[in-house]
Amino acid sequence: MSLEDKIQKDFLPKHLAVIMDGNGRWAKQKGKLRVFGHENGTKAVRQTVEACAELGIENLTLYAFSTENWNRPKLEVDALMKLLVSSLRKELNLLQENNIRLQAIGALDSLPKKAKKELFEVIEKTKDNARMTLTLALSYGSREELKNAVKEICYKVKNNIISLESIDESIINEHLYTQNLPDVDLLIRTSGEHRISNFLLWQIAYAELYFTNVLWPDFSKEHLYEALINYQNRERRFGKTSEQIN
Ligand code: FPP
Repeated sequence: MSLEDKIQKDFLPKHLAVIMDGNGRWAKQKGKLRVFGHENGTKAVRQTVEACAELGIENLTLYAFSTENWNRPKLEVDALMKLLVSSLRKELNLLQENNIRLQAIGALDSLPKKAKKELFEVIEKTKDNARMTLTLALSYGSREELKNAVKEICYKVKNNIISLESIDESIINEHLYTQNLPDVDLLIRTSGEHRISNFLLWQIAYAELYFTNVLWPDFSKEHLYEALINYQNRERRFGKTSEQIN
């Protein structure tokens, strides 16, 4: 029985999020520049997107660039932005063939003009695709997302658009970038780091966390299957007892 066959298709995470980490170390191990790691990281992106669509995962969110990543050397930031543009051009076919809708979350205004243009073009072209939503987190920071949500809600209360009493979890959800996405069920981080790094802090409240030592450019469909099988063997209790679940 192959790993893929071991996955229960009716018990998949509704929302899978991935912190793609280890590109730099992968390149260093090979005596190459960090950019080489990022270039090879795009192959793992393709594998993961394809595998999720094939399996029937409805929402996949990838942490492609954080607000903190702007502090990297300019050469690396420029290369990542160039890679984003070329990947969007190259992968439009993959998205269309697999009926995948692209969206992006984060401070998108801070992206370079060219990247924004390409991004919004692909978002527009794929907007009616319904098999899977692929969300790229770009210039994304969870604290900034929450800060913006708090500001907007306060503004609405101050101007009597909503009442203070009406604020509940669903109102907060509606003010996040991820308003159209369900909570994250499974979060994968590669490269052996055990951190969340300001990613979807509100949305992972009940997520299962899966850490693997595999460096992102090496992450293959088989590694994804292993993570999903591991997830399916866990008991998610959401604060209840094991007896209540069973
Ligand atoms: C983390 O590795 C990876 C990133 C900061 C960028 C992720 C980008 C890609 C996978 C390629 C481009 C993606 C798209 C969607 C076009 P790191 O550089 O922090 O690695 P290190 O921790 O080993 O230094």
